[in-house]
Amino acid sequence: MQVANLLKKKRFEIDTVENNELSRDLSAWGLTAMGVGAIVGAGIFITPGIIAANYAGPGAMFSYILSAAVCALAALCYAEFASTVPVAGSAYTYVYTVFGEIAAWVVGWALVSEYMFAVSSVAVSWSAYFQSLLSGFGINLPEFLSVSMGTAGKSGGVNIIAGLVTLIIGLILSRGTKESTLLNTVLVGVKVGVILLFIFVAAFYVKPSNYTPMFPFGFKGVVAGSAIAFYAYIGFDAVSTASEEVKNPQRDMPIGIISSLLIASVLYAAVAGILVGVVNYTKLNVADPVAYVLQMMNQNWVAGIISVGAVAGMTTVLLVMSYGGTRLLFAISRDGLLPKSLSKVNKKSKVPVFNTYIFAILASVIAMLVPLDKIAELVNIGTLFAFSAVSLGVIFLRKLDNHKDMPVGFKVPFYPYLPILSFVMCVILMTQLQAVTWMVFAAWFTIGLIIYFSYSLHHSKLHHGEENDLNDKDLDAE
Ligand code: ALA
Repeated sequence: MQVANLLKKKRFEIDTVENNELSRDLSAWGLTAMGVGAIVGAGIFITPGIIAANYAGPGAMFSYILSAAVCALAALCYAEFASTVPVAGSAYTYVYTVFGEIAAWVVGWALVSEYMFAVSSVAVSWSAYFQSLLSGFGINLPEFLSVSMGTAGKSGGVNIIAGLVTLIIGLILSRGTKESTLLNTVLVGVKVGVILLFIFVAAFYVKPSNYTPMFPFGFKGVVAGSAIAFYAYIGFDAVSTASEEVKNPQRDMPIGIISSLLIASVLYAAVAGILVGVVNYTKLNVADPVAYVLQMMNQNWVAGIISVGAVAGMTTVLLVMSYGGTRLLFAISRDGLLPKSLSKVNKKSKVPVFNTYIFAILASVIAMLVPLDKIAELVNIGTLFAFSAVSLGVIFLRKLDNHKDMPVGFKVPFYPYLPILSFVMCVILMTQLQAVTWMVFAAWFTIGLIIYFSYSLHHSKLHHGEENDLNDKDLDAE
């Protein structure tokens, strides 16, 4: 094994993306809807109560703003990469171009964990909300089918609904990007609509006295709260996995990434600010704070609508994060680091159907068997790891010898200070995560390295001079 091979960098060739087999159906608007679709979901319907009651008090809104600021720094770095290296695979591909293969594999593997665990964790929340809607109609599943074993306070068994919804999402995605994007856009409209409905109805019940004291746990509480709020922002990076399916990536990618993050930040800060204004923060340690506050206001009809909106909202997170995961596997497999079958594109639907099924099955098994609290932090650590790599990578991107041959797109302002700050902030947030999360992540890495050294290293196209070989069409026979 030659060390030079591990560090070999992928050279960006514009032909790779111009000749690809995926169809270019996405616009800036579609990307923004995709971003809001991926971001706004379980996080806003579950975490604000916990943050207010246990960490930040009425200042919970500032936890969301702080977390948004960290994400905004990373989002700017993503935007520069996504417009300069518009290739499927997001951070994995960026790191391949800048730091070489082994680093790319490590980041790619972390991203697989982000997307897969995000889908599984949101599917578990989806299942909880869906079951509460069903129980409104008098339909209750037996406990061994409603939650997984190990769920706090329950004997549990298999979370059948979480598993099924993940598989259904895989089936929808396998039909084509255009169809999935249309469904996503409709559902994003529904969820933004219900969140606005909540804001406007609840704003009338705000009592200014609930805002004092604003920071009962001090600034430390706000920072600790922001590490949890981070989960609610995860997803904007999934936009960058769509680079090869966008009409004009140089212009549309930065717009899609930054505007979706902005929309989510405004909605989150407003929801958190209103929740703590209506009910004293000490009473908010509940799993469904939005519905709880509405019940306190005797607005049960709105609570019902919000639950439907929450299910719609989480469906789009499942759609976009599953989409991101499959395009990531596509990019890794196209480079030869995973089996070729994962980058086969179906002629009719123009999507990697086999890989979509594999991703859905794996995420579905995790969703059925593992409780939510055990998965959620894993999503954060994988994401923060990728964000820190992208932040560092942007500094080196501009130093590449072929940088001048790359498309001219968005540029991070205050270079190199902003990427450095972004890197430092991501590392700080990572240090806030529990030791057990670090241990599971280390185990995940070990598995990744075993796969790399036993398979990927020997099949890498870059080592065999086949890089970017798009004459080698991998179309299904169908
Ligand atoms: N940001 C996503 C959500 O909150 C993971 O559902």
